[in-house]
Amino acid sequence: MKTFFIYTMGCQMNVYDSDSMAQELVKKGLKPVEAPEHADIILVNTCTVREKPAQKAFSSLGRMSEIKKRRKAPVILGVTGCLAQEKPEELKRRFPSLDLIAGPREVGRISALLDRLEAGGGCVVATDPGGPPPPAPVDGSYFQGRSAGYVSIMEGCNNFCTYCIVPYVRGRELSRSPSDILQEVRNLTEAGLRDVTLLGQNVNSYRWIEPGHTLDFPDLLRAVSTVPGLCRLRFTTSHPKDLSDALIACFGSLEVLAPHIHLPFQAGSNRILRRMARGYSREHYLSRIEALRSARPDIAMTSDVMVGFPGETDEDFSRTLDLVERVRFDGLFSFKYSDRNGTPATRMQNKLSEDVKSRRLAELQTLQKEITRSINQSLAGLEFEVLVEGRGKRPGQYSGRTGTNKIVNFAGHGLEPGDLVRVLIRRGYLNSLLGDLA
Ligand code: 5AD
Ligand code: SF4
Repeated sequence: MKTFFIYTMGCQMNVYDSDSMAQELVKKGLKPVEAPEHADIILVNTCTVREKPAQKAFSSLGRMSEIKKRRKAPVILGVTGCLAQEKPEELKRRFPSLDLIAGPREVGRISALLDRLEAGGGCVVATDPGGPPPPAPVDGSYFQGRSAGYVSIMEGCNNFCTYCIVPYVRGRELSRSPSDILQEVRNLTEAGLRDVTLLGQNVNSYRWIEPGHTLDFPDLLRAVSTVPGLCRLRFTTSHPKDLSDALIACFGSLEVLAPHIHLPFQAGSNRILRRMARGYSREHYLSRIEALRSARPDIAMTSDVMVGFPGETDEDFSRTLDLVERVRFDGLFSFKYSDRNGTPATRMQNKLSEDVKSRRLAELQTLQKEITRSINQSLAGLEFEVLVEGRGKRPGQYSGRTGTNKIVNFAGHGLEPGDLVRVLIRRGYLNSLLGDLA
């Protein structure tokens, strides 16, 4: 039996795409293996959102090319995802042993692309920017044994923030049909998964138009929330400019909607937000946070932010620190700005030095660590419902997540992924909580 290995980088959408490709390959009769050294087909699913993941993709392709060279048996080496879409020619030149280069909108056709390769003619390159989303799989058997999973609700992005390459590599927005989405969520819950995250680059612009009827994102949430066996519903990523009152109200009215939102703010200065073309002000962002907390007082908040956008002054940066102090996020993903091919920010004046960017990032991360640690420490003595994910790192320990998406380690026995237990928190750390079964 032929085998395959998929190495995944980047966002949750890439994890979803890798799983979609894996299901297709399993359907074709191939078997997944844990290491590229044992695989007949190696796929590297890449990301190019920032300089760092793009470099990581190049270096792992170097490693995989070496593995292919050393193997006696013939190996198919493919690169998929956003870097494949952005730089097919460069990839072909730098890695002549590549057999397949496929962009993120080609994921649904992976099987056909491999057939094309088998038919001969050399390296297959497929980078249609408007390709349809992968079809809904017939069942969720591939996911058995997991507690949580993803369902993509839309492809692409129409926002064109000035720093962002995503609209260029993932194409324009295209919503999936509610029946496909519901089918996929049902597949997962029937396979025993209890926690489902709906994915899209900008989930709140989800829209499905049928004659006489339009379904928006809050409508979709209400429909998905009725799927039997679903305990926690999440979604990511939301854009602050499109976070409607109707969506915020869902946090108060839908019990399965988990009390967590990831809401990137990117910068705390209105001047920088304008240069980024984000379409909202810091005041609007803060008012959305307040509305979310009114609708769901226990809601956990996480966000993305970048430092060192072209022209960012000390004063602009201090507005970012100030926003972080005001909101007190549970967690924050922070990045140094990097130029991306073809984006307007790349052509802006007043680029900052690596040195300044690194200093600002360190200051921001120190502040956020204090906040995260102090929030997590304040949870000691409280009880949470925890969804078991599997064994913890220590013997006899299990690991799971709260509805607020915090990792909890606790002692127990006889538990399975997908079980729900109550845990009393004893201590909070930077990256996890420690507790006992209540
Ligand atoms: N430079 C640095 N960070 C970026 N991000 C997106 N584009 C860039 C860029 N050019 C960050 C944003 C986004 C996250 C996925 O990556 O914070 O939310
Ligand atoms: Fe990376 Fe963005 Fe592509 Fe996700 S959509 S893999 S974050 S470039």
